[in-house]
Amino acid sequence: MRRLTVPKIRARKSDGVTQEPVVMLTAYTARQAQLLDPHCDMLLVGDSLGQVIYGLPSTIPVTMEMMANHAAAVVRGSYHAVVVVDMPFGAYEASPETAFAAAARLLKESGAAAVKLEGGEAMAETVAFMTQRGIPVMGHVGLTPQAVNVLGGYAARGRSDAEADKIVGDAKALDEAEAFAIVVEGVLEPIAIAITQGVSCPTIGIGASAQCDGQVLVTEDMLGMFERVPRFVKKYHDIGSIIEETAATYAREVRERSFPGPDQLYQPKG
Ligand code: KIV
Ligand code: NA
Repeated sequence: MRRLTVPKIRARKSDGVTQEPVVMLTAYTARQAQLLDPHCDMLLVGDSLGQVIYGLPSTIPVTMEMMANHAAAVVRGSYHAVVVVDMPFGAYEASPETAFAAAARLLKESGAAAVKLEGGEAMAETVAFMTQRGIPVMGHVGLTPQAVNVLGGYAARGRSDAEADKIVGDAKALDEAEAFAIVVEGVLEPIAIAITQGVSCPTIGIGASAQCDGQVLVTEDMLGMFERVPRFVKKYHDIGSIIEETAATYAREVRERSFPGPDQLYQPKG
């Protein structure tokens, strides 16, 4: 089977209607990508790997090297989904030219098909510049984690009318700049609905609305790897407890000298 393409994702929505919602999850490693790939339309190598993989306090310190390396692993582990790579903070904001150079490097080093960047109107010129030169761009509006130092935290966005209008305007600017899809994160539902109805490209919701044209979650959040997750996360399982219990059982067996047992030992031939 040939890998899905950006135009195929974009074409999921036509004349404002989306027949089949776009399924997206984050992936940071080859094995994780392998397991998720058959079920997803897109895999996002999110800069959330800063917190999830590296234990960083925010996505601000995430580097180009981290993104390129994890993106390459995810491409190697998948054959079906479109792989989208987050551009790290600092790599794209200064100018369309710097953004293009950084995105080109990410795609060349990883084999991914597209990049995602945060910001609305302020980034529209950059999105158009990149798209016209061969790099498909996914936008990201509403709660934009790289703006944590400006916003002062990770609270839901759009609680005032002015802020709500600004977020809808941001999404429309990205749509006009030909972003192929837009992540709408952490907003009150009417904003997500207004954006979804107001833009031609698919919206991918996270903490937004079931009426978005698709959904994304951080895989580790969905699996229950963390105690504290945002309200919008549904924990489908409690993998964290399974890992803890497994480590505890292994530790006990090592201490009792019951592991390795006969099944794990090499036996003489014959
Ligand atoms: O970095 C990330 O995982 C993201 C998604 C939550 C949209 O940007
Ligand atoms: Na991100």
